[in-house]
Amino acid sequence: MTHTTSLSQSDAQVARIISLEEQRQQDKLSMIPSENFFSKAVREAVGSVLMHKYAEGNVKKRYYEGNQYIDELELLTIERAKKLFRCPPDWGVNVQALAGSNANLAVYLALLEIGDTMMGMYLPDGGHLSHGWSHEPKGAPDSSDLVYEGGSAKVNISSKIFKTVQYKTSPSTQLFDYDEVERIAMQYKPKLLITGGTAYPREIDYRRMKAIARKVGAYYMADIAHEAGLIAAGVNSSPVGIADVVTMTTHKTLRSGRGAIILASDEIIKKINRAVLPGMQGGPFNNNIAGICVGLGEAMEYSFTTYAWQVVRNAQYLCRELEKFDFKIVSGGTDKHLVLIDLTNKAVLGKKFARALDYAGIVANYNTMPQETRSPADPSALRMGTPWLTTRGMKEGEMVHIAAWMNRVMVVCSAWGELDFKEFEERVATSFEIMQIASEVKELCGRFPLEF
Ligand SMILES: Cc1ncc(COP(=O)(O)O)c(C=O)c1O
Repeated sequence: MTHTTSLSQSDAQVARIISLEEQRQQDKLSMIPSENFFSKAVREAVGSVLMHKYAEGNVKKRYYEGNQYIDELELLTIERAKKLFRCPPDWGVNVQALAGSNANLAVYLALLEIGDTMMGMYLPDGGHLSHGWSHEPKGAPDSSDLVYEGGSAKVNISSKIFKTVQYKTSPSTQLFDYDEVERIAMQYKPKLLITGGTAYPREIDYRRMKAIARKVGAYYMADIAHEAGLIAAGVNSSPVGIADVVTMTTHKTLRSGRGAIILASDEIIKKINRAVLPGMQGGPFNNNIAGICVGLGEAMEYSFTTYAWQVVRNAQYLCRELEKFDFKIVSGGTDKHLVLIDLTNKAVLGKKFARALDYAGIVANYNTMPQETRSPADPSALRMGTPWLTTRGMKEGEMVHIAAWMNRVMVVCSAWGELDFKEFEERVATSFEIMQIASEVKELCGRFPLEF
């Protein structure tokens, strides 16, 4: 074996796993809203020799020699991000945070002192772990009050080192209640106010949130991890130039390979750069930055705008079709790429339904929902998204089939709703009807092939 031996010859075990995963992606409908399928160009850049180079530091201020081309790459990525997200002239960009959670932590380290208070959205209502999540072990989430002061299990570093308080969505509308957010902010006086989440299907009023932050003397961070691509395309409204800091992942609707981008005023971005290095990371993943750069270039093309509109149209169409089968859609619809289904009127809840769907070739994830009374490990809802299917070229017609298949799966597995999870899965795994749906799904996927 030499350095030039191909993977299939040098490591059959890993080669086999990759090939199985390729087949899985090809044959199933990937509907986890945080996932997407990247272009060959993005994947080539990520797999390139750029991964060999250490580049600690920022553009033209590196701690290692030999970074002429890495500087050029990082600068190009920064310029593309500024242009795509229409940054004000005095804003800067960091593209080095290794992932969305790291980007958020870098912002906290840059703007807060240990022990300061941050305020984000309650995780069961759709907020993200990295926005200060903690909980009471074994306790069902408390749903009585509109503010959550956290629990004793500080499961995320954000809650370990900062005081955290979380606002909930309105129990009647399942939407942000801005007056209530303002009341809570006035009461707890956070130093950082955060919006964004993993399962909030609606647009956020960034100006109102900024006004609340200003009123209590807080910074305002908008985490647009999920909707970054929709914002770049102008399909969703943008917090850029409104929020003090905008963080995002690059691998969801933005379709640019894995990583993160942070946008903020030049003054704040300098602090964030220092929080990233030396604060919490060593060398950036230059190859991932190259993937981001290529993805941002693709997102500037007209075809990406068309794509982003179709992502949302597909999600909205899916909602409408699901409602025909009496699936309850949280908040009554979506403005984005994601759909949250409240299954409390069905015989099978999120965890079992997600597993049954996977056997049927539809890959989604179980999720909590507003007013959740169950644990995040076995919650009431199912979360789905359309970014990947839309990349495959699927449109409204395909959403009709997907909703119908989902209903068939629900009808079949409802009979087993009372079984424990293991027995439930055994029934699903051997169900002829589920196998039949999986073969129909595979046939549809075959008409929209992925190019590896
Ligand atoms: C709103 C939000 N912020 C941050 C993250 C974290 O991103 P990563 O998984 O890259 O750490 C996610 C991931 O899903 C997210 O949805």
